[in-house]
Amino acid sequence: MIFYFSGTGNTRWIASQLAELTGEKLLFIPDELQGEMHYHLDENERIGFCFPIHGWQPPHIVRDFIRGMAIDNAQGHYCYCVCSCGDSIGLAMNLLQRYLAKKDLHADAVVSIQMPESYVALPGMYTDTPENEKRKIDNAALKIKDIAPRIINREVGVTDIIKGHIPWILTHIVGAFFNGKMITDKPFRVDADKCVHCGVCAGSCPTKNIVMSYGLPVWQHQSCTACLACYHHCPVHAINYGSTTKKRGQYYFKEKQA
Ligand SMILES: Cc1cc2nc3c(=O)[nH]c(=O)nc-3n(C[C@H](O)[C@H](O)[C@H](O)COP(=O)(O)O)c2cc1C
Repeated sequence: MIFYFSGTGNTRWIASQLAELTGEKLLFIPDELQGEMHYHLDENERIGFCFPIHGWQPPHIVRDFIRGMAIDNAQGHYCYCVCSCGDSIGLAMNLLQRYLAKKDLHADAVVSIQMPESYVALPGMYTDTPENEKRKIDNAALKIKDIAPRIINREVGVTDIIKGHIPWILTHIVGAFFNGKMITDKPFRVDADKCVHCGVCAGSCPTKNIVMSYGLPVWQHQSCTACLACYHHCPVHAINYGSTTKKRGQYYFKEKQA
């Protein structure tokens, strides 16, 4: 089984490609969080986790899920983690291994895959150019084809990640601050004059944190992961996150890009 989270679709695509190649079933973490989160693995079943990197760490929602899940028979099962990132992941996989260890799991393979950038809410952060988007997706497709057989063959000790410079500082100082203070829906605003009341924002939210009220989105301050899916999917750029995104592009993964 593959547990995955995705905001703007990059990781959903990676996870579904892996599911197709490995024959494993896909489980969406926000849906799983609504259930019992109690699992039993079949004989020789592999367990995978796919998620985007948020501030050089696994997103809160992924950590909460692992913390809350129970697997009857985790020990001895092949486990792998594949994350998507715009650039680098710091020590996110070390952090994740600690969460997994508490569930008798250890990731035998850890892989990061660069995909188009989705975080644009801070100065200096932009969507990729169309050329870069294409290059990243083409390379990602090759990387998925490379790692799938290694996962199928249960290769142990696979480490194919881009940590970036100063990874400890990125994960434990910058990332800790980012994840502690900046994962919030409070900066979201909708321009009521531009909004076309289509509800695409609410539909794109992976955690159902948006309800439409009088034709406008209202963020519920409950489960936002700051993935910016609502911002990126808005067909008329009526949603912003603070003021920085007013001058930023939009991106979400479209099947035809792959
Ligand atoms: C809140 C947030 C934080 C992010 N932090 C990082 C980061 O630390 N390093 C990085 O390389 N990419 C970062 N990104 C980019 C995403 O990891 C990347 O675009 C990913 O492929 C998005 O996956 P998704 O489409 O499945 O949500 C961040 C994106 C968001 C929304």
